[in-house]
Amino acid sequence: MTLVLGIESSCDETAAAVVEDGVRVRSNALHSQIDLHERFRGVVPEIASRSHTTRILPIVDAALEDAGVTPDELDAIAVTSRPGMIGCLLVGLAAAKTLSWLFDKPLVGVDHVQAHLHAAFMTDPDLPTPSVALVASGGHTALYQIDAPGDTRLLGRTIDDAAGEALDKGAALLGLPYPGGPSIEKAALDGNPKTVRLPRSTLSRDSLDFSFSGVKTALLYHLRGNGLERPMPDLDAGEVADLAASYQQAVIEALVKKLRRAAERIGARSLAIGGGVARNTLLRELITADPVLGALHRVFPPMDLCTDNGAMIAGLGTHLWHAEGPVDLTLDAVATARNRR
Ligand code: KG4
Ligand code: ZN
Repeated sequence: MTLVLGIESSCDETAAAVVEDGVRVRSNALHSQIDLHERFRGVVPEIASRSHTTRILPIVDAALEDAGVTPDELDAIAVTSRPGMIGCLLVGLAAAKTLSWLFDKPLVGVDHVQAHLHAAFMTDPDLPTPSVALVASGGHTALYQIDAPGDTRLLGRTIDDAAGEALDKGAALLGLPYPGGPSIEKAALDGNPKTVRLPRSTLSRDSLDFSFSGVKTALLYHLRGNGLERPMPDLDAGEVADLAASYQQAVIEALVKKLRRAAERIGARSLAIGGGVARNTLLRELITADPVLGALHRVFPPMDLCTDNGAMIAGLGTHLWHAEGPVDLTLDAVATARNRR
């Protein structure tokens, strides 16, 4: 039996988890900073990294305690080393390196986006491959081909906003609270998605990239006129619901359309989703209803494995430790995502 501690601090969640044999989640401790960033309607990097410094050790303690594991019993310590906000990443890295040195445990650096993809194998270790996967969150929106655990290929990505970011910004325009994804989803329950036809950007005919800046601007123009000549209207709850439903429909349909295109292109045998937007019910419904995607073996990870968490870091960390061995204490944080195709 292997026990790996995973530490995640790349954005606004301080998270740690203990995972057994790469798949069994023994604990998944998390502190969300939503209340700190709410009034700014987005994550403020400096506030986020400062909060991580005070939360990281209590969260690691909670993960070990919930799992009933002492640091000595761990086989390795995995930590998100990229991509993310640099100050945030450095906090998790400093904690992981210190624990690794103190308890003489191997250290493993994990790519956060790859860990979102790996959540598919943690949910279904027999995932048929090639699998097409969508990772959509506040910071990333990309399509991948998964061939095996840790073996993925980038197929396409957003050229501007991430899908979650588009939902967060749309919610701000509609006066809905942060984070926008869940509040748009909630408001949309009472709305008619056909109220306004907002653009679904497809870019070129065969592109697997996404663009979400147009739909956001279209919502702004719908509210304030093409020259922004009108003040922001006072919307009643019914109007907010209709606009939220129309906006959600446009963003989610764009994701599903490219996911289908990618599935056909690679001859996918299965599909997986990850990232905060993967919690969205309309996304899951439209995928299931799609004639191509609905026919594939589908992996929708449990909600707490979709948003940022330590378990996916420990899961991929376990695989990397076995496949590549540990790294040394010079492991550095990298802000950018790997964009190799
Ligand atoms: O993966 P995540 O927790 O953190 C990042 O790496 O960004 O994703 C957060 C994003 C936010 O943009 C949030 O609005 C969106 O995921 N989100 C959702 C839902 N829950 C969270 N979007 C649509 N529907 C949801 N239910
Ligand atoms: Zn994430």
